[in-house]
Amino acid sequence: MRRIGMLATCAAEGGQGDIHPIVNAALVWRDGRIVWVGPDAALPAAYAREEPIYLASSDTLVIPGLIDCHTHLAFGGWRANEFVERIQGRTYREIAAAGGGIASTVEQTRATSSEALADRCARFLAEMLSLGVTTVECKTGYGLTLAEELRLLRLYRDLAADGPQRIVPTLLGAHTVLPDMRDRRETYVDLVITDMIPAAAREHLATCCDVFVERGAFTVDEARRILRAARDAGLAAKLHADQLSDGGGAALAAEMHAISADHLEHASDAGIAAMARAGVVAVSLPLATLYLGQPPMPARRFIAAGVPVAVATDFNPGSAPSYHLPLALTLACTMQRMTPAEALKGATIYAARAVGLERDIGSLEPGKRADFVSIDAPSVDQWLYNVRPNACELTFIAGEEVYAPA
Ligand code: NIG
Ligand code: FE
Repeated sequence: MRRIGMLATCAAEGGQGDIHPIVNAALVWRDGRIVWVGPDAALPAAYAREEPIYLASSDTLVIPGLIDCHTHLAFGGWRANEFVERIQGRTYREIAAAGGGIASTVEQTRATSSEALADRCARFLAEMLSLGVTTVECKTGYGLTLAEELRLLRLYRDLAADGPQRIVPTLLGAHTVLPDMRDRRETYVDLVITDMIPAAAREHLATCCDVFVERGAFTVDEARRILRAARDAGLAAKLHADQLSDGGGAALAAEMHAISADHLEHASDAGIAAMARAGVVAVSLPLATLYLGQPPMPARRFIAAGVPVAVATDFNPGSAPSYHLPLALTLACTMQRMTPAEALKGATIYAARAVGLERDIGSLEPGKRADFVSIDAPSVDQWLYNVRPNACELTFIAGEEVYAPA
């Protein structure tokens, strides 16, 4: 007799920890979309005769396909030297001011051919798939000229066409002002507004626009101008906010009706309250917190205020050189004091909201895409407690099996 497993629908209703588990579940889909989900014992006879039916059984947990709602996927080179320098005591800001950081990756990215970038990204995506990640938000931000930013967006368009994962392309032309533009900041902000955003929108290359609001990056006023232009062009607003200091980013995200504000380690109570009122999703990035040795994002304060908290990797060559989303979920548990169920909702339905796709993906409910993952664990608690390779047994996207271990 095999033990019967569990399916977590992760429907939006209820709070952060309500994953709507179904014991001994059955899932039915047609043409890539879910048509029925519930206890196997309640499966309507009409569906019982119909293939395909997926039964969660034998110590198996079925969850919605994981959504990594914040990555900087395409970049050239790495920065292991900075990892070591930070261990030896230099800060992220000091390294950036000395010509390292984002500027160094911009240089390496520009020097990498489109073919080589595509190969790397395809490799990263394949490994993410083996972890159960079926949708990946991908930011630009290592090109920082019109031509180079568009090159990265076209790369994401091609990766999306190659599949199998869903890609959400985000323009992050406002990642930093490079040293050669430092005394012409205005000119650079204007370039983002008058060239990059319209070009990305015209060619339908991006669905979101992000700005890094931070001392040394962009001010609240600059970000407001950029996000207004993005909104006018039909792009959804996102923000890197309050990561290294409280710079008023959370409040700006609320004011601009951003779909998400991300990082937020130093968000103020007023900023959190404003985000709750405006319905902005808070995206926590515990791998970046871990790598930079920062105080954790105060997830409990967001949850208490009624702000949905998503969890993502922030995969990038500087502050978070890992795309291991399940590990990020475990860190959200240990560092941010989220329960495993709360963390799972943060990588499914709330992550879908953070990329504007909550009507299509993020939960296992009739009408949604049949993106789901079968995990070799009897419960969400056991899965995130016992972090290990090969926990993911099968990954489905739109009802097609796209990953099974060799
Ligand atoms: O999300 N904050 C800005 N961007 C990245 C870091 C990028 C880099 O260091 O290359 C982040 O942490
Ligand atoms: Fe980031």
